[in-house]
Amino acid sequence: MFYCGVVVPGDKLGRKLGYPTANLKISPAVLPKDGVYAGEVFGDNLGVRLGAVSVGRRPTVAGNKRVFEVYIPGFKGNLYGAKLQVSLIKKIRDQKKFDSIEELKRQIAEDVRKILSLKKEERARDRRTPDRRRTSRSLGLKKSRPKKA
Ligand SMILES: Cc1cc2nc3c(=O)[nH]c(=O)nc-3n(C[C@H](O)[C@H](O)[C@H](O)COP(=O)(O)O)c2cc1C
Repeated sequence: MFYCGVVVPGDKLGRKLGYPTANLKISPAVLPKDGVYAGEVFGDNLGVRLGAVSVGRRPTVAGNKRVFEVYIPGFKGNLYGAKLQVSLIKKIRDQKKFDSIEELKRQIAEDVRKILSLKKEERARDRRTPDRRRTSRSLGLKKSRPKKA
């Protein structure tokens, strides 16, 4: 499932946390269930990146409206106004109210570690079982030799 939206300013607390997020403007009617997800992010000048997606009211910081935001590990740039497409790969956990910002920060670090290791596992799996549909023969690029008469 893809979620498409323009990046809008958030509360800018993410930068202080060390995990700046891109907040996507998405109609509440189509938002996925609250939670933290592993995702893939597509955007102009961004290519395809791995993302840690948080959907919900952010109870730790007493947010009131439901927000769809994504932290992109390793990305340092300004995405305001950019149109992003995010696909959710797997739900990692529910949103939680932490007793302190420090605890939230530790949990986000753990989420990001988990998401990166999921990707590593996926790559290792792909190496073990290469996608046969992508071979040139199956794409019709490699014709079988005509039988000798
Ligand atoms: C991977 C990830 C997991 C998150 N999990 C929670 C959570 O469990 N509870 C919560 O209150 N906020 C959670 N957040 C949201 C942060 O509170 C939010 O990113 C922060 O307040 C910054 O918001 P801002 O971009 O509007 O400044 C999470 C954010 C990320 C990136």
